[in-house]
Amino acid sequence: MCAALCLFFLPTRASNAIFTALEQSQDAIEITSEDQVIQYVNPAYESIMGYQQGELIGKEIIEVPKSEKNKPDLLETINSCILKGKEWQGIYYAKKKNGDNIQQNVKITPVIGQGGKIRHYVSINRPLNDNNKSEKSTERVQAESQTDIQSSKHKDRRKGSLDVKSITSRGSDGSSQRRHSSMARIHSMTIEAPITKVINIINQAQESSPMPVAEALDRVLEILRTTELYSPQLGTKDEDPHTNDLVGGLMTDGLRRLSGNEYILATKQPHHLPSHLATPLSLNDIPPRIAQTMETEASWDFDIFNLEAATMKRPLTFLGLKIFSRFGVCEFLNCPEATLRSWLQVIEANYHSSNSYHNSTHAADVLHATAYFLCKERVKQSLDPIDEVAALIAATVHDVDHPGRTNSFLCNAGSELAILYNDTAVLESHHAALAFQLTTRDDKCNIFKHIERNEYRTLRQAIIDMVLATEMTKHFEHVNKFVNSINKPLAALEENGGNSDEESVKSVLTSPENRILVKRMLIKCADISNPCRPLELCIEWAGRISEEYFAQTDEEKRQGLPVVMPVFDRNTCSIPKSQISFIDYFITDMFDAWDAFADLPNLMQHLDNNFKYWKGLDERKLHSLRPPPE
Ligand SMILES: *[C@@H]1O[C@H](CO)[C@@H](O)[C@H](O)[C@H]1NC(C)=O
Ligand SMILES: *[C@@H]1O[C@H](CO)[C@@H](O)[C@H](O)[C@H]1NC(C)=O
Ligand SMILES: *[C@@H]1O[C@H](CO)[C@@H](O)[C@H](O)[C@H]1NC(C)=O
Repeated sequence: MCAALCLFFLPTRASNAIFTALEQSQDAIEITSEDQVIQYVNPAYESIMGYQQGELIGKEIIEVPKSEKNKPDLLETINSCILKGKEWQGIYYAKKKNGDNIQQNVKITPVIGQGGKIRHYVSINRPLNDNNKSEKSTERVQAESQTDIQSSKHKDRRKGSLDVKSITSRGSDGSSQRRHSSMARIHSMTIEAPITKVINIINQAQESSPMPVAEALDRVLEILRTTELYSPQLGTKDEDPHTNDLVGGLMTDGLRRLSGNEYILATKQPHHLPSHLATPLSLNDIPPRIAQTMETEASWDFDIFNLEAATMKRPLTFLGLKIFSRFGVCEFLNCPEATLRSWLQVIEANYHSSNSYHNSTHAADVLHATAYFLCKERVKQSLDPIDEVAALIAATVHDVDHPGRTNSFLCNAGSELAILYNDTAVLESHHAALAFQLTTRDDKCNIFKHIERNEYRTLRQAIIDMVLATEMTKHFEHVNKFVNSINKPLAALEENGGNSDEESVKSVLTSPENRILVKRMLIKCADISNPCRPLELCIEWAGRISEEYFAQTDEEKRQGLPVVMPVFDRNTCSIPKSQISFIDYFITDMFDAWDAFADLPNLMQHLDNNFKYWKGLDERKLHSLRPPPE
């Protein structure tokens, strides 16, 4: 009986055990040769299908009667998949010897021989629990089976429309319509990590599965959602050099070659309190001119550059005082306002005013966006006071002591920081670590001094997690996790109807894991929200970031370092093109997801508007920030 099997197994001691496993398996297993002649079926196969081994072995697969219940092209689909050496998995009707049809979950795996050719096919077949309830829905699973998903885009579109339909029940006002289309786009995200596809497949399969299977799949989903499997397949999207450079420049770190050139960080010694600066005594003592500039601080369209000018480059201290007091941070931390003031000044002093982008105005801007997001209804429902405090502090410190160079640059240059942090999340680790050093080294500015140890721990953990979340190598991971664990479950609950399920919504919003995802998404969106600001602000930010990248390219050339982002060369760069790529690659999907959650029509309007502005310049082949004067 083992004759056929001896073809497969090298004579190892394990082969007996493997053979026993085959014989004892409850799944029906069938092994064929490369030309699809049956070589082996196990006892489960015999009992399920009603054949004796002897009737099948040596027969070609096509000689065995097939069920007419499969879609006509299914066999062809399966064949074209496995003949290419790819595994196929899906639902398939087999015909038993007695003529009955049996629906099975089938997985066919080509076995590749040493020469690289396919030698066998192993087919593992598990009968579906035939509780006869849902032929229709299983057909859908069949349609969604792996091959379909691998092979074509039409599925995405179909699924997109399905989801739009299913959520439209919620209401018909403009804002929810808009959010529906955001949701539809989330479902068809162009940069889709494999894990997202897997989760989609499992979700679909759950719909038509009996309870125990659905529950088991729930546990599978749980694991998948909380494990680090989220890197998207980069480089498959397009060959746009701007995108490539941004991806290369922002999303890779030390894996590029080191040049041996030392890059010494501009600041070796942290700055201490800048005593020569007149310091405001408290919120009430803020000069009227500055107070006036900050009156509209709660609005999204607030002009941070006015504040930068009015405060003589200390926007972070003043805006920080105002926003922290609005959120009652001092009360929460039980710290005197004077301590908060000193702390803000120390943090601000450790931002480099010489950076054209990453100076304290950027930090103030991110703090502003963070405070704005914290006031959104959904965000408030999700987060606790301690999360809010952590978010505001994280935003304030998130780029402290930024040298105005990217992680890749620091790694290439073999900088001290890159060495210290093993080329991984170099800057973000430094921002987080330095923030706590600066805070705790001196009681005068230690805002954590009066909170209880456990609370401090929780707060510290949350702050570090958020600062590290701003690292762009993890961009798609954070966005995908947010969509899969929060947006999709919420959409599904809304689909199931109205208010009946408020408890479930609450549990999605407030589970500890999901609160972490909300906080990460919040600070990420705040950190790169420039393209969602009013046009004039957006243009100013684009100018600043381009200038910082140009300066990096200049230095790379000067020092003979690898040029990380060649398109950011001040002689040749098209700023509109770089903005378009940045928006396409990083911004659109992320803000679609964030908008679907937090409802931000004004931001999406600005984004749309700004994108059109850059497109307009690009169509006129202009490379600059603005069109030349008429
Ligand atoms: C399913 O339906 C078939 C007839 O279509 C019947 O013979 C079989 O017993 C049913 N199975 C179950 C589990 O109800
Ligand atoms: C930030 O950089 C810009 C130049 O891009 C500069 O005009 C501004 O004053 C700087 N702001 C601070 C707070 O250093
Ligand atoms: C860097 O790597 C070394 C060696 O693996 C390890 O001991 C050290 O803790 C790492 N440092 C950081 C900051 O990860």
